[in-house]
Amino acid sequence: MIPFLDKKQIYLIGFMGAGKTTVGKLLAEKLNQPFVDIDDVIEKKADLTIPIMFEKFGENYFRKLETDALQRIASDRGNVIATGGGIILNAENRRIMKSTGITIFLKWHSAVLFQRIKNSTHRPLLKSINESQLVHQIETMLNQRQPFYEQADIIIDANESTSPDAIVELIIQQLMSRNQMDKEP
Ligand code: S3P
Repeated sequence: MIPFLDKKQIYLIGFMGAGKTTVGKLLAEKLNQPFVDIDDVIEKKADLTIPIMFEKFGENYFRKLETDALQRIASDRGNVIATGGGIILNAENRRIMKSTGITIFLKWHSAVLFQRIKNSTHRPLLKSINESQLVHQIETMLNQRQPFYEQADIIIDANESTSPDAIVELIIQQLMSRNQMDKEP
């Protein structure tokens, strides 16, 4: 635990395929804080996978469980939390994250996101579409979501970064300079 974080929660936000889980686990290790993946919490609680949940009960059902899970997790302290890409769509979710922690947006260019998710099989919002539809789908969803991602406390422009380790280093630098700014009169 780094004392300057003051046990605030750290929320990683960003589009599907941004690496929130991979980076989150590494960051949690570095900061010696517990790691929580909201999608995992939802799946365990419902005893269903997210694709099956979407198929059987629809997206709204999933979104309700997502807010419930966030509310429970947010009441704890000092975790590194990987969120699902759509968590920022809901105003209440945004309020909870802002009021309980620091939000970090892992920002990638849409072309890079396309490469990272084109072979994904476990994402219900991207299933049953071909590659050109996927390009369009990513653009459309990013247009809607980017303004909310951009409200993050810290934005990591990950396009230049070569590895999850490099991204973690960038995050730690930003957290430290933020701490410095907090101290300045
Ligand atoms: C979603 C992203 C997924 C998961 C669900 C919905 C979204 O998480 O929460 O399939 O709306 O972008 P990842 O961002 O971890 O893929």
